[in-house]
Amino acid sequence: MSLDPLTIDGAVAVVTGGAGGIGKGIVRALLAKGATVVIADVEEPALDAAVTQMTGLGAVEGVLCDVSDFDSVVALADQVFAVHGHCNLLFNNAGVGAGGGGRAWDHEPNDWKWCFGVNVFGTANGVMAFVPRMIESGQPGQVVNTSSGDGGFAPVPMASVYASSKAAVSCLTEALHHQLVTDGTRLGASVFYPSGGLMNTGLFNSHRNRPPELERILRPARRSSMTFDELKARLEAAGRDVTVADLDDLGRFVVAGAADRRYVIARDLTDTVDLLHRRAEAIGRFEVPPHHDMGI
Ligand SMILES: NC(=O)c1ccc[n+]([C@@H]2O[C@H](COP(=O)([O-])OP(=O)(O)OC[C@H]3O[C@@H](n4cnc5c(N)ncnc54)[C@H](O)[C@@H]3O)[C@@H](O)[C@H]2O)c1
Repeated sequence: MSLDPLTIDGAVAVVTGGAGGIGKGIVRALLAKGATVVIADVEEPALDAAVTQMTGLGAVEGVLCDVSDFDSVVALADQVFAVHGHCNLLFNNAGVGAGGGGRAWDHEPNDWKWCFGVNVFGTANGVMAFVPRMIESGQPGQVVNTSSGDGGFAPVPMASVYASSKAAVSCLTEALHHQLVTDGTRLGASVFYPSGGLMNTGLFNSHRNRPPELERILRPARRSSMTFDELKARLEAAGRDVTVADLDDLGRFVVAGAADRRYVIARDLTDTVDLLHRRAEAIGRFEVPPHHDMGI
């Protein structure tokens, strides 16, 4: 049974990581369509600033929340359901890089713990804390998990930890969607692949939110992440497309996709589909599949 499109006007939406980058674009788009929005973010000054900026745009509030901490996400859900009675849209969008630089063996356990804590457990915590209550409320709803083409479709080998975390997000979302349909709920799931150009967001500076207990210990100074400007310059030098995405436009795109109950929310997938075919063919020959080649 297919689900009816969602009405955003009057819906209650939660956006994790909504105080920055792509999440902020999602929040703006939701407010423009008349949703009540709860921004959940771990970065308190950014959260306060986002709520102040958006207040004139509609009904918005901020909740300080660490998505990697299940109790913190349960407290967020408690607040949302106590104040609003239901939740129609859950955007599990908060995410971080891994911070260790390229090679898998150059990372250390705390890189994996932090990255998987936010990206994978953060998404799982959102699902576990919200979905049972979303189902119980009887309201229509959609869970939108932010993955990445890096990992979700194929790895960028030099971003192995981040790619592994996003592969997990895509896999989890697919299983979740099947479960929601099999159980005859009024909910669906979507996997969102930010796309349509380079994204100038705080992801390149994720370590600002890295908890001290998960800092690098073994090689603290080794390999910090590339900045957005460095990435853009390297792609430019390699003759690649360096169009910078408009994050508000991307926000409108993902909200429209969620309202339409689209499972895969992504911009042009032509190159991706070609890559996936080549990957499938290589796997069918028992060979290592081709990966994302950034040319840098
Ligand atoms: N920027 C890109 O090129 C790109 C590409 C593909 C996917 N993504 C994904 O898009 C999502 C948004 O990232 P972005 O690029 O906007 O980066 P960003 O850093 O601008 O935004 C991420 C937000 O998540 C918040 N956050 C970090 N740790 C958190 C935690 N433990 N609990 C709650 N909130 C936390 C940050 O404070 C920030 O507001 C992420 O899942 C990221 O992996 C980004």
